[in-house]
Amino acid sequence: MLVARTHTCGELRADHAGAEVVLQGWAASARDRGGVVFLVLRDRSGLVQVTLDDRCPPEALTVAKAVRLEYVVQVKGRVERRAGRANEAMATGEIEVIATEVEILSGTRPLPFALDERGAEASEEVRLKHRYLDLRRPHLQRNLMVRHRGSMAVRQALDALGFVEVETPILTRSTPEGARDYLVPSRVHPGHWYALPQSPQIFKQILMVAGMDRYFQICRCFRDEDLRVDRQPEFTQIDVELSFCSRDQVLEVAEQVVDALWREVLGHGIGEVVRMSYHEAMDRFGVDAPDLRFGMELSDLTEHLGQSSFPPLRRALDEGGAIKAFVLSSGADASRKVLDGWTDFVRNYGLGGLLWGKVKPDGSLSGPAAKATDEPSTLLDALGAGPGDLLLLGAGPRDRVNAGLGRLRVHVAKERDLIDEGLYRFCWVLDFPMFERDEDEGRWVAAHHPFTSPRADHMELLGTDRMNEVLSDAYDLVCNGSELLSGSIRIHREEVQQKVFEALGISPDEQQARFGFLLEALAHGAPPHGGFAFGFDRLVMILTGATSIRDVIAFPKTTSAQDLMSGAPSQVGAQELADLHVRSDVEG
Ligand code: AMO
Repeated sequence: MLVARTHTCGELRADHAGAEVVLQGWAASARDRGGVVFLVLRDRSGLVQVTLDDRCPPEALTVAKAVRLEYVVQVKGRVERRAGRANEAMATGEIEVIATEVEILSGTRPLPFALDERGAEASEEVRLKHRYLDLRRPHLQRNLMVRHRGSMAVRQALDALGFVEVETPILTRSTPEGARDYLVPSRVHPGHWYALPQSPQIFKQILMVAGMDRYFQICRCFRDEDLRVDRQPEFTQIDVELSFCSRDQVLEVAEQVVDALWREVLGHGIGEVVRMSYHEAMDRFGVDAPDLRFGMELSDLTEHLGQSSFPPLRRALDEGGAIKAFVLSSGADASRKVLDGWTDFVRNYGLGGLLWGKVKPDGSLSGPAAKATDEPSTLLDALGAGPGDLLLLGAGPRDRVNAGLGRLRVHVAKERDLIDEGLYRFCWVLDFPMFERDEDEGRWVAAHHPFTSPRADHMELLGTDRMNEVLSDAYDLVCNGSELLSGSIRIHREEVQQKVFEALGISPDEQQARFGFLLEALAHGAPPHGGFAFGFDRLVMILTGATSIRDVIAFPKTTSAQDLMSGAPSQVGAQELADLHVRSDVEG
């Protein structure tokens, strides 16, 4: 019979010796050594050893012998110091519980995979299908605890800063964050559809117009896009918006939130947050989310090698491209196989190849990069390289050189173990371009979202042939090469918003149809405002060291957006579809 437990499994210590306890939990191990049975009971708080021997009633021993792995068990007994050495692998290792009564509360079917360290080797498909078992594993339990403590810390920090949590609708209209929408048909309005929010962007801006002043929400967002290790179709944002603020005030709030989170979970703050413009990030690191835990910055050699007649460089120069390079200190020992691997790596980013050069002890160069110049010493001086170092050079269209070398920089650092995993290096990337060219559609699209304000000094470039130069008041917070947050100062005047829509080629009719409610709100006394959203799952990934976003979400989806446990998405019956006024081409 179930009785109230007196303790959790993980809390018993030497000073509990002598206490009569009632414990409940799962059998993490069950060893039958003839006259003696050892059970290890596990609950969320940890593990404890229960021992049954000739000191125990024979009925208890009989029941204990029937216990199998992952059975749910209730134990009554007495805490005693262990006779032998303490088990240092367990926090409760100084004691054991000598059982007086064992009861099986429920059994289990044969387990599809082991729940100890061997479980990690089971296929992810099997683990996701039986997620309730997978989640019993201590490291996933720890990830969920970190997530919980993190969200509590965030709520407290924002509350203390005067932010109010407000929920916004899930059944809503399309929000333009650049992905496809998940759509829900309306039964009551034939042919009409709700969209699930890609973010609460428009609602939070409207809350500013409504005078909420400081809003936040830990909210779910839905995006039908290609999934990666750090992307899920439904993910969680810490969404924040504030009125009457400068950009720097917004950045300060974001830093305070993430600092509170770091202190709660890791016990230390985030340290200095470096600031750099988008252009500086691209110049120095080739990417807009730079990893600052190691050096190997890119150098621009376009001018330095401007006279080179070496064909791959000449071609790039004549086509208006760029030449950039970085130096791997003491990298001249890299084998041909490794260099070929790195060459293939940059080809994935559209570079024709990788020009490498090993610096020999006499300061001369070997390898393809040797052909770049007749004066290796000035090149080495320009790069700060010396004997034993390896140069890695790329030439071609500037965006491809940046993408190839920028990612290679991180790839090489990981491969060579140059990254201190205990380090967290934060930076703000500021002043993003306002527009990007969509070459397929031959038009400009918003680089962030269309409600982002152009920088005040770039307003007059809107709609001119210098759209590529327009910078916005958008910012990202990056940690260790991962984009944790995006945000911007918003447009708060209707006529500016209309001008940006026009520049994006959105006709007045379309503006009204898609964003009429926002434009109307902006026309009714909108305060200057700005904000941001953290990707909360990504924050938890960094805090737990998880390599997959699925390890920090209780019920994640696969890379093909399926929930293997519940079997979603699933087919629905013809009648249900008919009720929703939806016809399907796919055979049921
Ligand atoms: P953005 O689209 O950049 O901005 O999203 C903000 C942050 O959310 C995280 N993120 C994701 N995490 C997991 N899976 C995904 N599919 C995914 N997509 C985005 C990233 C990103 O930095 N409304 C704006 C914010 C604003 O302007 O206030 C927005 O949603 O960490």
